[in-house]
Amino acid sequence: MNLNTLINANKRKFDIKFKKLLKNKLDKSSLSNAMFYGSMNGGKRIRPFLVMESAKIAKISSNDAFIIASCIECIHSYSLIHDDLPSMDDDDYRRGKLSTHKKFNEATAILAGDALHDLAFELISGNFKNKNVISRLNLINYLSLCIGHKGLALGQALDLEYENKKLSKNKILDMYSRKTGKLFEFSFSAPFILKDKSKIDIQFAKDYGMLFGLIFQIIDDLIDEIGTFKKIGKTPGKDVEQGKSTLLKLIGEKQVTDLCNNKINTFIKKYKNKISQNPILIKMLEFGMDRLN
Ligand code: IPE
Ligand code: IPE
Ligand code: MG
Ligand code: MG
Ligand code: MG
Repeated sequence: MNLNTLINANKRKFDIKFKKLLKNKLDKSSLSNAMFYGSMNGGKRIRPFLVMESAKIAKISSNDAFIIASCIECIHSYSLIHDDLPSMDDDDYRRGKLSTHKKFNEATAILAGDALHDLAFELISGNFKNKNVISRLNLINYLSLCIGHKGLALGQALDLEYENKKLSKNKILDMYSRKTGKLFEFSFSAPFILKDKSKIDIQFAKDYGMLFGLIFQIIDDLIDEIGTFKKIGKTPGKDVEQGKSTLLKLIGEKQVTDLCNNKINTFIKKYKNKISQNPILIKMLEFGMDRLN
C-alpha cells in the first residue's frame, strides 16, 4: 500500500476514536466547543501516524498508542491555536477554516489552547495503568521537556524573536528543532519509552523523530511560499510577509533540499541495522520531503 493511503487510513481511524474521546471528556461550554473546533478540524494527523509506526516497532498495544497520539494531537492543536493568534502569526485561517480565535474570540482561543494542553496531561497521566510507574513518570517528564521552556514553547518564542533578523543556519535549525522537532521526537520515541526499551533504542527513536520533524518544518516553509490556500488550508506567503527567518530564505530551495538529503543519508549510515529492519522509516522521510507535490 502506498504511504499516502496508509496515512489517510490511519487518520480516519484516529479521527473516529479521538472524536469519541473528546465528546466524552468535553461538555457544552464555549470553552469545550472551541477545544473541539481547534482539534477536530481536519488536521493531517501525521504525528499519530508516526506514533502508530513506532508502536509497531516498540510493540505497545494499539490502545496505548492511541492515547499517546491523542495526547500529542491535543498539544499540537493547542500550539496551532496559539500560533494563529494576532500576537503570534496572526493567521485568520487554519485547515481551510477560520482559525479558532476568529471563529470564537481571542480569550476563548487562548483558554482553549491552555485547556487542550492540560487535557494532554490528563490523558498521559491517567492511562497506562498496567505499565510500571517509573516508565509512566519518565514519559510525562519527557513530554514536559519536549514542549516547555527548552522545547516547543522556546522554539515558538525564538521564531517570533527572529523575525526580520539575519541569522545563521544553525540558529534557525536550532529554533526548528524546538518549535517542531521536539514534538515529533516525542511522537516517535514515546512508545519506546513506555515500553522501557534500551537507551540505544530510545535514542534511535528520538533521532528519527527529530529528523522527521526538522524535514517537516523545512518543507512547511517551502509550502508556505509555493502552496495555494486550497491545498494548504492556511494563508500562503505569510512567512515572507511577516519577515520570518526561514532556512529557505537564507539558503534557497536547492540547498534546503540538499541539506535534508544529507541529513537523511547521515541518519541511514548511523542506524544501518535498524533501518534495514524497518525500511518504511526511510519511505516516511522521503514522503516528508515530497509532500509539497
Ligand atoms: C503545522 O503542522 C505546523 C508545523 C509544525 C509546520 P501540520 O502540518 O502537521 O498541521 P495539521 O495538523 O496537519 O493541520
Ligand atoms: C508552527 O510553525 C510550529 C508550531 C505551531 C509549534 P508555523 O508557524 O510555520 O506553522 P504554520 O505554518 O502556521 O502551520
Ligand atoms: Mg509560527
Ligand atoms: Mg504559523
Ligand atoms: Mg509554516
